[in-house]
Amino acid sequence: MEWTIRSEEPDDAAGIAAVLTDAFSREDEAELVSLIRNSDTYDPELSLVCIEDETIVGYVLFSPVVIRAKDCDETPALALAPMAVLSKFRNQGIGTALIEEGIHRSYQKGTKIIVVLGEPGYYRRFRFESAKAHEIKPPWEVPEGAFMVLSLETNALRDVHGVVHYPEAFSHTTNTPQ
Ligand SMILES: CC(C)(COP(=O)(O)OP(=O)(O)OC[C@H]1O[C@@H](n2cnc3c(N)ncnc32)[C@H](O)[C@@H]1OP(=O)(O)O)[C@@H](O)C(=O)NCCC(=O)NCCS
Repeated sequence: MEWTIRSEEPDDAAGIAAVLTDAFSREDEAELVSLIRNSDTYDPELSLVCIEDETIVGYVLFSPVVIRAKDCDETPALALAPMAVLSKFRNQGIGTALIEEGIHRSYQKGTKIIVVLGEPGYYRRFRFESAKAHEIKPPWEVPEGAFMVLSLETNALRDVHGVVHYPEAFSHTTNTPQ
């Protein structure tokens, strides 16, 4: 195991697209990342690649979202999406290392809440829990339990309810991005 994790650099775009296309067997997530990269919501420090032998083998991105309540009260958060590891490199802890580094950096930047759409069986290990239980909803129809939330500070979720609003780039994807 000789991989490292670092922020995305200018020459990484093709490698990131290759990982996402391999992992999802479609181009939606790669297109999403390229739209975000050219938008004002992109933060390279929260766009993380895993490198082994000078090749990008894993990727995760965190983007700013707001949780908007019925009374229009807004709470800032980050959304984890997309997340992928090349099939050949799975089950070595790369996904875990990318997420843990992303959560750490998010916390350092003052983030209190992270949302994710994905497999509860995977994200529970990072202490993500049901968003529905907190009355926090995704902007899409999603499978039961698939939308989750992580609190990075005690009481961060207290009195926070509503629908999560994603950056504009997410509305261009045909499939719900993971
Ligand atoms: C999900 C993904 C990023 C995990 O990457 P990884 O580097 O293999 O993850 P790790 O090595 O850190 O963790 C592997 C563990 O997660 C589990 N796991 C992987 N995918 C899972 C899933 N969809 N649901 C539940 N558990 C899952 C593995 O069984 C393994 O469990 P173990 O630790 O008990 O043996 C990778 O499988 C992937 O790219 N999948 C396709 C893209 C995708 O679905 N992305 C969205 C994630 S919801």
